[in-house]
Amino acid sequence: MRDNLIEKAKKVLLGNKKKGFTLPTNNKLYPAQWKWDSGFIALGYSHFKLKYALDEITTLLRGQWKDGMIPHILFHDLKTDYYPNHSVWNCGNKIHSSGITQPPVLAIMLKKILDKNKIKISDKLKIKSIVQKLKKYHDWLIKYRDPKNTGLVSILHPWESGYDNSPLWDYSMNEVKVEKNLKYKRGDNKVINPEYRPLDTDYDRYVTIKNHLRKNKYNPKNLYKTSMFNVVDVGFNSIFLRANKDLLELLKIFNLEHKSLQKFILKSENQIEKLYNEKKGVFTNYDIKNKKKIIVPSITNYFILFADLKNQSINKKIIKDLKNHNQNEKYLFSSIKPNYGKFEEKRYWRGPVWINCNWIIYQGLKNKDKKFANKIKEKTINLIKKKGFYEYYSFKTGEAFGASNFSWTASLFLDLVMEKKYN
Ligand code: SER
Repeated sequence: MRDNLIEKAKKVLLGNKKKGFTLPTNNKLYPAQWKWDSGFIALGYSHFKLKYALDEITTLLRGQWKDGMIPHILFHDLKTDYYPNHSVWNCGNKIHSSGITQPPVLAIMLKKILDKNKIKISDKLKIKSIVQKLKKYHDWLIKYRDPKNTGLVSILHPWESGYDNSPLWDYSMNEVKVEKNLKYKRGDNKVINPEYRPLDTDYDRYVTIKNHLRKNKYNPKNLYKTSMFNVVDVGFNSIFLRANKDLLELLKIFNLEHKSLQKFILKSENQIEKLYNEKKGVFTNYDIKNKKKIIVPSITNYFILFADLKNQSINKKIIKDLKNHNQNEKYLFSSIKPNYGKFEEKRYWRGPVWINCNWIIYQGLKNKDKKFANKIKEKTINLIKKKGFYEYYSFKTGEAFGASNFSWTASLFLDLVMEKKYN
């Protein structure tokens, strides 16, 4: 049964594969290369075709901007109905792209790929060059998204988080004044049932913020101060801290400079802990633009386990809280805690189960609570076995929503099923 599904998962990836990169799905919802999707996809390929894994990352890095930014979308095919398309963004370097970034998972994926694959001498230079480009990207995030050197970076658009319409952004999005006479045409809600997608009021703001970024020529220096959205997110920073720790190891392997990164890691580790209130068991995101604390029970807050904080007593308390996120439920984890007022069972990032969240949390738990980690792994595998390789699922019934043949679901399924037993 598992072998059959492994073959099916590989088929999903190969079916979505284009020249040098892979689409997130084979339906028309996402007709381009997405940054964090590509990271997860590369990890999936590494279980059966290392070349495709490295190609995926190499292609993504071909679209890296001169200043180091890696865009969240690369538009390889210009003739699509996707909104916002390449001409709406009007930017890019070598490849047309969006003007914002997405969670920095690449160094983590590369480290995982190298840990379990013997790299041929002929690939060494290629990998060294990837590591150097990733260093440039991390330097960009530190320089432009944390200009005050606090140890925590900001995102300047909800799309940068990857969890676009999460209730985490409700307060900040309400503060965004929608541009007058805004004109645009969504494509996503023609492909997928609009009940499972973000609302028009969300899109009005996504587009307004994007237009402001474009008007400012995507200048990272000015935009930190002027962007209509500027939030320090626990999930994004947790991924970044883990990625920095992994990048540090990669830099050491290739004898590359890493002192400044080491310093930043220490500072991040100190600061990120402060976003968790041990007594109340809540996480705080911080809206820099409006000087406002945001407290929303999002599963992405638990990405902090993936950052591998050294403080074991905090880790223990966080794990205890996580066990209350979905109590006695058949399916884990809802992206938002179900008793939260703005939870929605079926709408994109406002409630459904996402396989990448489960995977990230599983990785974070492996060295802290094996039993719980294994439970999450089994439940995740079983959900996919039962319902197929979809974009997201109901935490109540397991019903699948969004895109079918979803690449990162297939990839992470492969990774969960094919990883060597760690115990
Ligand atoms: N996730 C966004 C979309 O749905 C863009 O990054 O199109």
